[in-house]
Amino acid sequence: MHTDATIQHAAKLLEDGAVVAFPTETVYGLGADATNPRAVEKIFEIKQRPADHPLIVHIRGAEDLSRWSSNVSQTAYELAQHFWPGPLTLILSGSLAHACITGGQPSIGLRAPRHPVAQSLIDALGKGIAAPSANRFGKISPTRAEHVFDELGTSVDLILEGGDCEVGLESTILSLVSDRPCILRPGAVSKTEIEEFLKAPVDAITRPEGIRASGLLDSHYAPNIPLRLMSFEALSEFRPQEHQSIAVMRHSQTQLDWPSMEMSMPLNAVDYGKKLYAALRQLDRGPFDLLIAETPPPGESWTAILDRLTRASHDSMS
Ligand code: TXA
Ligand code: MG
Repeated sequence: MHTDATIQHAAKLLEDGAVVAFPTETVYGLGADATNPRAVEKIFEIKQRPADHPLIVHIRGAEDLSRWSSNVSQTAYELAQHFWPGPLTLILSGSLAHACITGGQPSIGLRAPRHPVAQSLIDALGKGIAAPSANRFGKISPTRAEHVFDELGTSVDLILEGGDCEVGLESTILSLVSDRPCILRPGAVSKTEIEEFLKAPVDAITRPEGIRASGLLDSHYAPNIPLRLMSFEALSEFRPQEHQSIAVMRHSQTQLDWPSMEMSMPLNAVDYGKKLYAALRQLDRGPFDLLIAETPPPGESWTAILDRLTRASHDSMS
């Protein structure tokens, strides 16, 4: 996918304090050397992200945990061993990272991605890479290199191409800060999978209070055009106002006769998740007055998709 020379060049840029966008299996990240506060500050500037929203540090695996947290429990270690590399972020207490990464909080978010380009880059730098999703604050995460370029352009020193992201939705965030593990953001690693592995119950919060985590703000992942969620029944009965141009994303097979555009979405959650952000970006280019997504079917595999669609539609619902 990339020659050693490209990865070495990217690692050198990071070493010199530059910001490099790189693919992960979830979404593209905007990376900086996690031990360099000035480089990390650039991420906040480029993203226009408030300084008190913590970043995830991307590491090689369970063996790196104790470099970033003074409080690595047996549970944390075992979860990392089992689910990494992969789409699970662990929040641990006892952060050893610079305050600019944690937003001054005592906890730290850590993840070992499984995309080969991300892994080679971490290896070549030999340090953790601090990286949020490579989009402007509050906007849709990029799942292709071209999305990063469209949104951030030349403010990024280098964008590594890595194809379409395999998962397409941000990682599951699991907090191990309290006695009972708690999912702060649903993702491809499900609550049931974690519970089965731990043989213990896991909490999940949908509306966290008092936690400064940007992915947890209500109106996150938002397209510019208002988005609404509607059941297929409601869609069937819905009629647009005169001159109203509406695009509909639906997974039900039956065609509607009124939308200006219909985007047919996959019927299974894995394929849907992979396509969702690219579809939202495409529809957001308009020209539409309103986007409507059919409400996802019930079932745990749709949890992360329902979460992102609900947050993306927040502004237009309230
Ligand atoms: O899949 C992903 O997680 C992608 C790829 C690039 O790894 N990254 C990503 O980063 O989605 P970001 O910054 O867009 O979202 C990470 C979320 C944010 O909501 C952040 O506030 C939260 O994780 N987070 C990070 N550290 C935290 C901490 N110590 N406590 C609570 N939340 C934390
Ligand atoms: Mg993000």
